[in-house]
Amino acid sequence: MYLGIDLGTSSVKVIVMDKQGTIVDSASEKYPLSFPKPLWSEQNPEDWWKGTTDAIKKIISRNSALGNQIEGISFSGQMHGLVILDEGGNILRPSILWNDGRTQKQCDYLNEVIGQDKLSKYTGNIALSGFTGPKVLWVKENEPEIFNKIAHILLPKDYLRYCLTGDYKIDVSDAAGTLFFDVENKTWSKEMMDILSIKPEWLPEVYDCYEVTGIIQKDIADQLGISRGAKVIGGGGDQAVGAVGTGTVASGVVSVALGTSGVVFASTNEYKVDKANRLHSFNHANGKFTQMGVMLSAAYSLQWWVEEVNKDIVAENPYQVLRDEAAKIPAGSEGLLFLPYLSGERTPHADVNATGVFIGLKPSHTRGHMTRAVMEGVGYGLRDSLEILKDMQIPIEEMRITGGGVRNELWVEILASIFNYELNIVEASEGPAYGASILAAVGCGLFNTVEEACEKLIKVSKTVKPSEEDAKVYEKYYQVFKKGYGQLKGIYQELAAL
Ligand code: XUL
Repeated sequence: MYLGIDLGTSSVKVIVMDKQGTIVDSASEKYPLSFPKPLWSEQNPEDWWKGTTDAIKKIISRNSALGNQIEGISFSGQMHGLVILDEGGNILRPSILWNDGRTQKQCDYLNEVIGQDKLSKYTGNIALSGFTGPKVLWVKENEPEIFNKIAHILLPKDYLRYCLTGDYKIDVSDAAGTLFFDVENKTWSKEMMDILSIKPEWLPEVYDCYEVTGIIQKDIADQLGISRGAKVIGGGGDQAVGAVGTGTVASGVVSVALGTSGVVFASTNEYKVDKANRLHSFNHANGKFTQMGVMLSAAYSLQWWVEEVNKDIVAENPYQVLRDEAAKIPAGSEGLLFLPYLSGERTPHADVNATGVFIGLKPSHTRGHMTRAVMEGVGYGLRDSLEILKDMQIPIEEMRITGGGVRNELWVEILASIFNYELNIVEASEGPAYGASILAAVGCGLFNTVEEACEKLIKVSKTVKPSEEDAKVYEKYYQVFKKGYGQLKGIYQELAAL
């Protein structure tokens, strides 16, 4: 049996997978997310550990025989969060998360004074406010007394590894999101350590995502009811591990994750960097590379529209009510566009000041038009990343789609037509947690490679085809959507300065 832990932003999910790839049991635990100041987003690493151990104990208490059969444990983790510990392994401050936007000043310094060329050369990426490196600089500049006590830097899921094994270790795919990792050579970047004042001894040892990094500590194994000697395997950032969970491990396969954030993820055999660094150039969980575009408010845009703006709808399922209205509206929402930048945007604009906008409102527009426009706007935003992949000549032979938004069939149809590609939905609904248990199985030797495991375990359950007619309409609207951000950039800046 293999235990997969998906350390998310709102909850942790733990699953147990058997040797046939069947999920035997799963449990999840929520924890708080705090926004102590505008743009800040923090979590307490101790809450992650408590949630994880509670979820594991829940599973084992339901079936004590499972515990002794756990051979390997691995992770998928929310990326980029900064966890800093002192000499004794104590947490120095709450973790600053991937969706925290406090580091604009540090990003500007890195991109403009150090320069994008150098950053890209050293790491394959440029500074974005979510990444870990700018957060290190922020702590140095704003909390020097804490900075002076740093003895270890970890990413969120590696804090769980530290609690399980006592080891300070990390995998390549999560290290790639720090901006102090040399993605091409799979090693910490000496140049970036100098630029960010990071001492080499603070950084964890790096492994591939499918390698064994250590063994669970005996007392922790006993506490959790797990076999002593269970191996702990690298694991990785949620996007790379989620891609394993959908079988996106071969060159030519591109997956779209329609979660809170939206991600377009291409698996590539070679290391590549876009000349303008429009996509993230990271390491993949199969030992190869990825190109990735991240949209900050994907399914969240619809969630906001349904649960906030339309919270007064009295119905058992307000999503269904709004979806049915949207389904009656033609493609293109009769001239209504939505720019889905509710939380600013990462790809392709890298602008924390961007905001959501409806463009084209007329008296004839109804709530159904607006709902449909929200879904379409997310599609156009994702298409921006797809266009960059095409521009970089990265092959797109097959597209897969995952994430909570996939339950909304209308939305998947809209996306297929906006992209003008067939979208394959895969059977495994557990995404990153499933990917984590696959990595554990590879690490324990059940499969020789991540690719072999995916080939055996992941099956496409449904294909959604684009509508030729709608695709033509969307093509025209997309050309207008593309201009929206540029036209509004100045207004976004003015609004942010008020
Ligand atoms: C990836 C990213 C998100 C977070 C949270 O770059 O920021 O996927 O990992 O899920």
